[in-house]
Amino acid sequence: MATVIFDIIRKIARDSHQGLSYFAWVQYPKVESGLPMQTRFDLTQADIPKTWYNLLADFPEPLPPPLHPGTKQPVPPEALLAIFPENLVRQEMSPERWIEVPEPVRDIYALWRPTPLLRAVRFEKALQTPAHIYYKYEGVSPAGSHKPNTSVAQAYFNKVAGTKRLATETGAGQWGAALAMACKLFGLECNVYMVKVSFQHKPYRRMLMHTWGATVHPSPSDQTEYGRKLLAEDPQCPGSLGIAISEAIEDTVKHPNTKYSLGSVLNHVCLHQTVIGQEAMKQMEMAGEEPDAIFACCGGGSNFAGLTFPFIGKKITEKKKYRIVGVEPSACPSLTKGELRYDFGDTAETTPLLMMYTLGHKFMPPSIHAGGLRYHGMSPMVSHALKLGLIEAEAYHQTKVFEQATLFAQTEGIVPAPESAHAIAAVAQEAIKAREAGCKRVILFNLSGHGLLDLSAYETYQTGKMQDV
Ligand SMILES: Cc1ncc(COP(=O)(O)O)c(C=O)c1O
Repeated sequence: MATVIFDIIRKIARDSHQGLSYFAWVQYPKVESGLPMQTRFDLTQADIPKTWYNLLADFPEPLPPPLHPGTKQPVPPEALLAIFPENLVRQEMSPERWIEVPEPVRDIYALWRPTPLLRAVRFEKALQTPAHIYYKYEGVSPAGSHKPNTSVAQAYFNKVAGTKRLATETGAGQWGAALAMACKLFGLECNVYMVKVSFQHKPYRRMLMHTWGATVHPSPSDQTEYGRKLLAEDPQCPGSLGIAISEAIEDTVKHPNTKYSLGSVLNHVCLHQTVIGQEAMKQMEMAGEEPDAIFACCGGGSNFAGLTFPFIGKKITEKKKYRIVGVEPSACPSLTKGELRYDFGDTAETTPLLMMYTLGHKFMPPSIHAGGLRYHGMSPMVSHALKLGLIEAEAYHQTKVFEQATLFAQTEGIVPAPESAHAIAAVAQEAIKAREAGCKRVILFNLSGHGLLDLSAYETYQTGKMQDV
């Protein structure tokens, strides 16, 4: 009887939604047990990775080292101790393939990890594609993105090294919020330089940082010499990530017991994010599929690294044929239009020189809605992978990105972060190509965060005011 009623309800639902293809009732094929097809793949707390994966151990060519800007010689580890604790400097340069995740870090990861892997069956249906689309969802972390995977690790290593206070930069606030939370959990002070346009126009993550006890300055600020110089030249300077990094580094070297913390780009940050890909690999096995193509958005490169480095490792060591694609905004196209060369990581030229795809450290990215993708360079490890032909890159304009992000929200329910939505635009294109070619394709992407604090960007799109720059 219950089955008959269920079938009637299902028929009514299907009929009432005719004409709206992506709202149509999704009828899962039944598996042998009679249950609906599984679309969510969950691991248990015991499956939280016990080690991070270091791709440096498997690159077929060594990564070019960071150089001292004056001598142009490789920077010795001691030189980095002014801004980073020794344990993180060791990780930054480690040749070890597997690096242990300390127990206190795993304990905090357990607040949200393992994160789910889902198959986006309704999005597939809307795109009318034979492709199977899977996504790893990092938006379930307390800060709403992948960033706490490294903020918790960095706060822990600083705590055990005796650091009392961390200084950092943030664009739209995702990284600042993640570090504020981690610092609070480990009893550290947190001082954040937030790009001024975001400080003014994106108040909610600033409030989140305050809730977690951080101090937040609009950058350029009156807290540093560099900030005061820029404000004297242009009091309306909107700021950029490169400027905020310079301020955070100056703050670090001028305050006692303070170290600097970076939310992307560096090797140890990419390393900490590899919990994402290791979990995803197990979950794809649970789903009984192997990805043909893997996508993630690229700002400084850390969420891309997190999902893809374990797969790139298999590409190198087991000759797997994955197509791995980094997706960036057309307005800040370091991978697709940048030059591979040594460049500074910040605007004031205080960092070592890094070998990376770069638009130049003076490049001021237009103010697109994906604030976390407005960085002039790209992680040296991600850049190296592109140079070696292990990965590819694509760039998308923001209106296309928001069109696909809206379709994803309307089919799968989750409102993606504007940054993560870049990966969705690329996935949609791949799925449409599979439809046109009439071939099955298994696609995996990283949904690196939710967009619930970015709704004004969605409103700008919905009211037709969004422009491609
Ligand atoms: C949700 C989200 N995804 C991706 C990024 C890009 O950073 P990264 O390339 O380091 O992952 C950011 C940066 O703030 C972000 O907030």
